[in-house]
Amino acid sequence: MFKYLTRPLHLASRNAIRALSGNAATTASSGPLIEVNQALNGWENKLKDAGVQDTEFNIKCIVSHVLGKKFSTVPDDFAQLKFNSAQLADFERFLEARCARMPLQHIIGEWDFMDITLKTAPTVFIPRPETEEFVRLVIQQYKQEKHVNMLEVGCGSGAMSLSMLHSLPQVESTAIERSKAATALAWENAKMLGLDNRFKVFNHTMEEDKYMPDELQDKQYDLIISNPPYVKTEEFQFLHPEVVVYENLNALDGGSDGLRIARLVFELACRHLRPGGKLWLELGNEHPPLVKTIMNLKYQGRLNYVASYYDQYKRERFVELQRPEA
Ligand SMILES: C[S@@+](CC[C@H](N)C(=O)[O-])C[C@H]1O[C@@H](n2cnc3c(N)ncnc32)[C@H](O)[C@@H]1O
Repeated sequence: MFKYLTRPLHLASRNAIRALSGNAATTASSGPLIEVNQALNGWENKLKDAGVQDTEFNIKCIVSHVLGKKFSTVPDDFAQLKFNSAQLADFERFLEARCARMPLQHIIGEWDFMDITLKTAPTVFIPRPETEEFVRLVIQQYKQEKHVNMLEVGCGSGAMSLSMLHSLPQVESTAIERSKAATALAWENAKMLGLDNRFKVFNHTMEEDKYMPDELQDKQYDLIISNPPYVKTEEFQFLHPEVVVYENLNALDGGSDGLRIARLVFELACRHLRPGGKLWLELGNEHPPLVKTIMNLKYQGRLNYVASYYDQYKRERFVELQRPEA
């Protein structure tokens, strides 16, 4: 089914992105007013035909965004709500984009992650709800620590680092990220949230024998976190169009077993974790036992498997590793 959908969607997505350039909702009032319920006519079916799930939620997000209102303040039945003609044009543009399966997060241009709101941008990985669980788990472990010097590998929009910084004032974070767009967005988000005094981000692609940028060659960290690309290449055919068409595949592709980038992170951790420091990873649900085996076979004395943790769907997803004490 996805193979069938992918080709036309690539065209549709280009149009959708073009249509959305300068996507702030227009609020200036002009021309006649139209009831939101009238403007909605036919759109629910169009969204369903395009394969969009949870259409009511999608429509309400878009209506709230166009009206510049918080989602929670908009009534479910849209009673009394009206668009001016500029807002109506925005509303239709955004729904067209959603029919082309552009993710809601890109249409709206921002998304809540834990207690913070992050800007999103096309091609930059959209933070997922499971990652909130991962970050909560890590925060629990570091609440009592006096000072934590943290490194994040592959920070995307900055979701993990910035929510850690927001919750724990004793944390300082340095991030590396291969995508220029993501590096710029993470920095923009840090400034927007007033966290830029404890955050640094480097545009750097971690590679074998060039794990860190020159400036960080000698650095050691108390904690390293990463949500590396971990989708097995063969699983790409099962991903939703929102992911295949609109997300950067470098943010997802973990190679044949999903651990290609994680293996680089293991090596980086051996060099840049202080003795006793921890590496926390978010991975796919088949990965924790594999990581345990890899640690036992290849990393004895360099990196120890400590534990794995389950997400809310009872999938074993999060892994804790430790560099042995000196
Ligand atoms: C799954 S996304 C996670 C993004 C973010 N941490 C989050 O949870 O929302 C993986 C990120 O790692 C980055 N990345 C992939 N390979 C990398 C590499 N070799 N070096 C640095 N960053 C990399 C991607 O560009 C992407 O932003």
